[in-house]
Amino acid sequence: MTTTATEHLLRADGVTVRFGGLTALDDVGLQVAPGSVVGLIGPNGAGKTTLFNVLSGVLRPTAGTITWKGAPPPGRRTHHLARTGIARTFQGLNLFSMMTVLDNVVAGADRLATGGPFSLITGLGRHHRDERELRARAMAALERFGVAEYAHRMPGTLPYGLQKQVALARACVSEPELLLLDEPASGLSGEQIGALADQIRGFSRDMAVVLVEHHMDLVMEVCDHIVVLNFGRVISTGTPQEVQADPQVTEAYLGTPADTSGDVNGAAR
Ligand SMILES: Nc1ncnc2c1ncn2[C@@H]1O[C@H](COP(=O)(O)OP(=O)(O)O)[C@@H](O)[C@H]1O
Ligand SMILES: [Mg+2]
Repeated sequence: MTTTATEHLLRADGVTVRFGGLTALDDVGLQVAPGSVVGLIGPNGAGKTTLFNVLSGVLRPTAGTITWKGAPPPGRRTHHLARTGIARTFQGLNLFSMMTVLDNVVAGADRLATGGPFSLITGLGRHHRDERELRARAMAALERFGVAEYAHRMPGTLPYGLQKQVALARACVSEPELLLLDEPASGLSGEQIGALADQIRGFSRDMAVVLVEHHMDLVMEVCDHIVVLNFGRVISTGTPQEVQADPQVTEAYLGTPADTSGDVNGAAR
């Protein structure tokens, strides 16, 4: 495939992030084509979440550029994100514990409202019609993710796997063009991870996906393209087969004792 800027939904070029003396990302490049699933892997501390924070606009890089559909992303604040067409889930759940499942998803649907981001919290400035429509969309998203029957529960009362589905519903309700998933399989059973693989493949019919994940079987199964980070640098990119065969990738994982008990060793298999 040719790689002109406009063919990419999102691209990062030369992204560097420094936190004081620590270089979390060092000259990182990444391209996401529409409808593709891109895996972002690497040992703990490699910079994966930091790159997500840059891609989603919540962290301004020390150097480098992000291009969304050939232009700089319009907003650099969290509440601009969904309006841009980028949605994310977080490492962990990040659901609002004091809001019902339904209200959590209504929060994600806010880009479809006219009242602005703070109307959601304050209840001010939004028409009743908007409110009804948002709730209907949020219910439809809960149904799509199989958790509609829990709409009026508090998230903390649900099993972890169901809370993860609520988090996915919240991310997808805004009908994003790009979905960033930060370790969606963590804490799930093998069976749940299998179902997640089917879901991610289903997402890519409607949107591109960038997936940060330690479960290598999942990554190798669903990704079209993989980028491997280690100590903030891209050490390998390619198809799942190419990356798996790259000795640098094996070395990065085997050189990280904290990770060797987990399934990250799948990269070396
Ligand atoms: N807000 C921050 N302030 C200082 N250091 C940070 C911050 N966020 C991440 N880091 C550091 O940046 C590096 C990359 O972290 P992170 O992106 O979370 O890695 P990963 O998601 O790949 O495990 C780590 O060394 C981490 O400690
Ligand atoms: Mg992380």
